[in-house]
Amino acid sequence: MSEQNTHEFAADRYDTMQYRRSGRSGLVLPAVSLGAWETFGGYRGEEIARACLYRAFDLGITHFDLANNYGRPPGNAERVVGKVVRDMPRDELIISSKAGYLMWPGPYGDGLSKKYLVASLDQSLKRLGLEYVDIFYAHRPDPNTPLEETMAALDLIVRQGKALYVGVSNFPGDQLEQAVQVTQRMGLNPITIHQPRYNMLDRHREHDLFDHTQRNGIGVISFSPLDQGKLSDKYLGDKLPGDSRAAEWWGNSNNQDVIDSATHTQLQRLNKIAQQRGQTLAQMALAWNLHHPAVTSVLIGASKVEQIEENVKALDNLEFSDEELKAIDEIVPRTY
Ligand SMILES: NC(=O)c1ccc[n+]([C@@H]2O[C@H](COP(=O)([O-])OP(=O)(O)OC[C@H]3O[C@@H](n4cnc5c(N)ncnc54)[C@H](OP(=O)(O)O)[C@@H]3O)[C@@H](O)[C@H]2O)c1
Repeated sequence: MSEQNTHEFAADRYDTMQYRRSGRSGLVLPAVSLGAWETFGGYRGEEIARACLYRAFDLGITHFDLANNYGRPPGNAERVVGKVVRDMPRDELIISSKAGYLMWPGPYGDGLSKKYLVASLDQSLKRLGLEYVDIFYAHRPDPNTPLEETMAALDLIVRQGKALYVGVSNFPGDQLEQAVQVTQRMGLNPITIHQPRYNMLDRHREHDLFDHTQRNGIGVISFSPLDQGKLSDKYLGDKLPGDSRAAEWWGNSNNQDVIDSATHTQLQRLNKIAQQRGQTLAQMALAWNLHHPAVTSVLIGASKVEQIEENVKALDNLEFSDEELKAIDEIVPRTY
């Protein structure tokens, strides 16, 4: 038992966060969830990861998202976050992981075969130091593996007690529909949640996915809701901040390498609406995402504690007037 176990979490941690049901399941998630991709075990080490995860939990964020390949080297995010999470109250947390992208060499370290999914989750659990994850995802579609095999593998994992719920990520709507039919036909564990990329600068999931999730009672957790920080005040100026993902992780040296002038103008215009709403651009981008009835939770990343504090305040104003929505549609039109 580590000495971190003596840490006392805020007694009022459940007072202000909103909790939302994932589709028609029993799984309830915080409206804002926190992921580790790129940051924890990547360009942010254990100390910042611990500070962010503790502060997030104090603010009612009970869900932390991972995948086998997050961090550098791949797997490092699970190692770093696992170390922290083991010092937190496990039964108050929803921890997720995924497999689907390349993780180890040879034919069994990639895709959605039963061999890969089962082996990868075993490795994830070891890195995390946990007995089970709450959600395990098929990370992306795999055209070479029959959906029947993938869905049966996810079902097996639940029956083995290694995951409580299963989900899919990056599946287009038609493939999600097929996967749902497979689970129903074969009497398998249902898909509880879908994790797509969805934000103001990338709206195509509104068209090709959300009808399917809503009809099938499947929740949605939107990843990169700030488009990796672009939907914040970070890139509004002319200079690229040194403490940005773009500078620190992607090695860019100026704003134009990250954001073209058309996007820059869109961000400036969106920021004006955010200011009129009394929100930062990041807060409005999250509120707008959560405003869609298909969305259960927004899955943010954070490189510092203050970003989590700012982002959670998005929940103070989730309402949009028709005029605001119309103005936003004019700036970032639906791409369909
Ligand atoms: N399923 C998938 O295929 C998939 C793919 C990608 C991500 N994900 C999941 O989604 C999670 C979030 O993805 P993401 O990191 O791209 O999310 P994001 O919330 O769009 O971007 C997070 C980054 O934006 C910046 N940021 C956040 N809040 C800010 C604020 N208030 N003001 C200024 N900058 C702010 C920070 O970067 P700076 O370093 O610039 O400060 C932060 O690391 C991942 O951790 C992962 O769990 C899933």
